[in-house]
Amino acid sequence: MNSFIIKGDICYSADKNTLITCPDSYVVCEMGVCKGVFGKVPDRYSALDIIDHSGMLVMPGMVDLHIHAPQYAYRGLGMDMELLDWLDNYAFPEEAKYSDLEYADRAYDIFANAVRNSATTRLAVFGTLHREATELLMDKLEASGSVSYVGKVNMDRNSPDTLRESSARASIDDTERFILETRDKYKNTYPVITPRFVPSCTDECMKGLGELSEKYDVPVQSHLSENPSEVEWVRELCPDTLNYGDAYDRYGLFGKHAETIMAHCVYSDDDEVRRMKENGVYIAHCPASNMNVASGIAPIRKYLDMDMNLGLGSDVAGGQTESIFTSMTEALQVSRLYWRLVDRNMKPLSVAEVFYMATKGGGSFFGKVGSFEEGCEFDAIVIDDSLLPHPQPLSLRERLERAIYLGGDIKALKAKYCRGSCLIRNEELGIRNEE
Ligand code: GUN
Ligand code: FE
Repeated sequence: MNSFIIKGDICYSADKNTLITCPDSYVVCEMGVCKGVFGKVPDRYSALDIIDHSGMLVMPGMVDLHIHAPQYAYRGLGMDMELLDWLDNYAFPEEAKYSDLEYADRAYDIFANAVRNSATTRLAVFGTLHREATELLMDKLEASGSVSYVGKVNMDRNSPDTLRESSARASIDDTERFILETRDKYKNTYPVITPRFVPSCTDECMKGLGELSEKYDVPVQSHLSENPSEVEWVRELCPDTLNYGDAYDRYGLFGKHAETIMAHCVYSDDDEVRRMKENGVYIAHCPASNMNVASGIAPIRKYLDMDMNLGLGSDVAGGQTESIFTSMTEALQVSRLYWRLVDRNMKPLSVAEVFYMATKGGGSFFGKVGSFEEGCEFDAIVIDDSLLPHPQPLSLRERLERAIYLGGDIKALKAKYCRGSCLIRNEELGIRNEE
């Protein structure tokens, strides 16, 4: 059933400043494409079934621009260290286990199930350096019905023997095989080139990955300017670069050839920001992770005002949860601390702005995604906020704000659609044709 109408209290972003709320309205999906939101069903759609979610919040699916699937197993643990020690003591030992396909099978079942049951419809995912385990992850994500870009991670230096590729050549060749094996295999799952971060990849490896990105037109994802000691380490490792971003840019891994996501950008200098803006690099803002591994607060007001490409990332397990509702709340909260503690000229973010980042902002990485405007791919979630009771009347906008702050996605997700397919319907809801 790829053509239908959903009735409910509809919320979506037109742009970063414009949150549109339409109580008791109809959003039309025709062949997986959104045809717009209407106060009453237009005659031309009168033959379509109406799925009745009256009284519930209906909004675009959430977009997670940065998540580590193999770290899901230890989310909520190991938050007692800063980034580089955290990687050595928690992330790397856990990721090394994915050489064992049987372990990967069990762990990725749990991850894919969590994705399926979440409000997220689109995601950009790090696997591990293990090609086979990462392809297994892609099989499972494809079965979840969500749309994802998934990366086999590259690591050929500065990592333990148990989690390091034998040479740059081996890392590049394995990545090329990964691309060839996966690029046409799935309907909703695609490969993405994933150098872990500059400290993990030799120049030879980075050069080869840049060439693969251009040759096969495959996007790129990585980490950038996350934590002070990491930025300092990159300066030592790459003394001839202007900044951290330059260390990607010089190898064609910074948005010039293909769409690129860089997670964090807490400490990007002016030149790095200018290059990201020029090249259309997506910034994945991951506030939970920035707090948990004591990285800092990213200057998101600045990036928003510059109209940069910007979305939210859960960064599990630097972030403790896959909930993008939680990421929205944290983005709001850390922006207030930034204003209070760092720069009084940087106005805190608004609910409309973080909702935009969680939907249309990050969604544009995937094409026309993340809104209910005509022509968008139809991704939607339905939240039953009657589970968050209140005695006073609230506007639809206030109900949305509350659902974000109170974790409405976890408590009350009733239905989820991606590319027009229904992925979840948590209880039987009325389906009728009003004709
Ligand atoms: N930088 C390099 N690897 C990682 C990772 O796994 N998580 C985070 N937050 N930063 C990183
Ligand atoms: Fe990360």
